Amino acid sequence: MKLIDGKELSKKIRANVKKEIGVLESVGVTPGLAVLLVGDDPASKTYVSMKEKACEEAGIYSIVHKMPTSISQEKILEILDMINKNDYIDGILVQLPLPAHIDTDTILESIDPEKDVDGFHPFNMGRLVLGLDCFAPCTPLGVMRMLQEYEIDPKGKDVCIVGASNIVGKPMFNLLLNAGATVDICHIFTKDLKSHTKRADIVIVGVGKANLITEEMIKDDAIVIDIGINRLENGKLVGDVDFYSVAPKCSYITPVPGGVGPMTIAMLLENTLKAAKNRNKKKGTVGE
Ligand code: GUN
Repeated sequence: MKLIDGKELSKKIRANVKKEIGVLESVGVTPGLAVLLVGDDPASKTYVSMKEKACEEAGIYSIVHKMPTSISQEKILEILDMINKNDYIDGILVQLPLPAHIDTDTILESIDPEKDVDGFHPFNMGRLVLGLDCFAPCTPLGVMRMLQEYEIDPKGKDVCIVGASNIVGKPMFNLLLNAGATVDICHIFTKDLKSHTKRADIVIVGVGKANLITEEMIKDDAIVIDIGINRLENGKLVGDVDFYSVAPKCSYITPVPGGVGPMTIAMLLENTLKAAKNRNKKKGTVGE
């Protein structure tokens, strides 16, 4: 069994982003990322401060717009309109989840697709389905990068995704399908989860349920990618996979923490760099 080390790989990617940003800086371009944080969900606050720190290290200018839970949808739309028009900002990220009185779809659809570094806008989702160049959501994109780094080609493999969210499962499905995998996607209404996971060469799980995937649900030598993050009552962070029973059966497995998590941030930096390059190519500031 080999561990897929997302922490190490993300460091490599972040160093490379930093190097590329150094080149852009030499022609006077500093990529900019605006983050909208609504309310005071502790997990969202932690994620946003990690993203801020990563931007700073990479040389990305970042600004976090913190708003109270009581803010109106109209006000958020007004702020987004302002950021869409701000030429110094290349990427926009609205940290999810939003408070219940805000319509998330309306907010995500009001982000300029050219600045949609989270890849959640229907424009980018549609392009992803069609296999066209787009901003793909960072977590599934990070999983694809891990597979690539470990020379695991999804082409012709049976992949089972557990979890069909808009942020993870659905884009993961499309990235893998576009890469030539046969993809099965399971969700809350799936009748017999084990019958799906057991036959897969690669199992990818992201539902937020500790120990959902156990040893008897996985075939010998499977590759297991754990996107879940759960905090146990004793404070320990675990994924959705019962790591200690499953790991000995696998050919590869991602740990939690230190697996997919750090890759999400690395992909956000890459997407922001890509947005800055695209926008500056259009403006003629940088070449092809
Ligand atoms: N909430 C949980 N994951 C994500 C993510 O990848 N991006 C944003 N914007 N919010 C999230």
